[in-house]
Amino acid sequence: MKNYQSIGVFDSGIGGLTVVRALMERAPFENIVYFGDTARVPYGIKSTETITQYATQITKFLLQQEVKLLIIACNTIAAVACEAVVSMSPVPVLDVIDAGARNVVADAGARVVGIIGTPATINSNAYARAINRYAPYMKIFSQACPLFVPLVEEGWLDHPVTRLTAQEYLNPVLAEHIDTLVLGCTHYPLLKALLQNVAGPDIRLVDSAEAMADITASLLQETGMNNPSGLPPSYRFCVTDVPLRFQAIGERFLGRALPNVELVKW
Ligand code: DGL
Repeated sequence: MKNYQSIGVFDSGIGGLTVVRALMERAPFENIVYFGDTARVPYGIKSTETITQYATQITKFLLQQEVKLLIIACNTIAAVACEAVVSMSPVPVLDVIDAGARNVVADAGARVVGIIGTPATINSNAYARAINRYAPYMKIFSQACPLFVPLVEEGWLDHPVTRLTAQEYLNPVLAEHIDTLVLGCTHYPLLKALLQNVAGPDIRLVDSAEAMADITASLLQETGMNNPSGLPPSYRFCVTDVPLRFQAIGERFLGRALPNVELVKW
């Protein structure tokens, strides 16, 4: 294993860029290969078998790029296919659900927690299990929000339709007097401002992207895997369809140019 090798980060589409953005800030000398399966997004309304098959294919691709670490930057994949990814990977695998759960329980004031995510993530109950493993006393209320991913992929981050949709989805969990709301999908941090506004200022929003970046930086440090070069890092972005669309939304979100978004043909 060479320290200068890249970190492989993957998601079904652009959502994992929230993890990339946090990683760029937290680990500024690490090379990153990002994979977004833009041809097949959304995953969150698909079956476990299909999601696992896609995740396996992406893992193979990233391992061929000789990454030193894999980050599952998609809650849906983490919820239903994490074991499949871990079982085929010779390099460490980190996932956003564990990162998010650890972030929730680190707050001593958290008691009643709302989780929002894709139908696959919510139906798997993976978040509730991960949180209750660390803190069995926490009460958890979950809500699937299937329309959020297409709205984010469309770039409607502060649009009246998105706001109405958010009110509709959040009302039942807000009625449970939650103190914490977990954005259990890596697309949702793109809606953070809008969601905070709908939830109100007293509810703490947990963004697993930031937690993921902290956990990654610690792992690299502890295992001596961090890239000591101090040189400007290389960032590659690979997608399975319409690179231009990914580039446009990605540039807006990351606040930097993405000149070479590569189209992957399997
Ligand atoms: N961004 C992904 C997640 O964190 C899912 C989006 C999708 O449905 O493909 O769950």
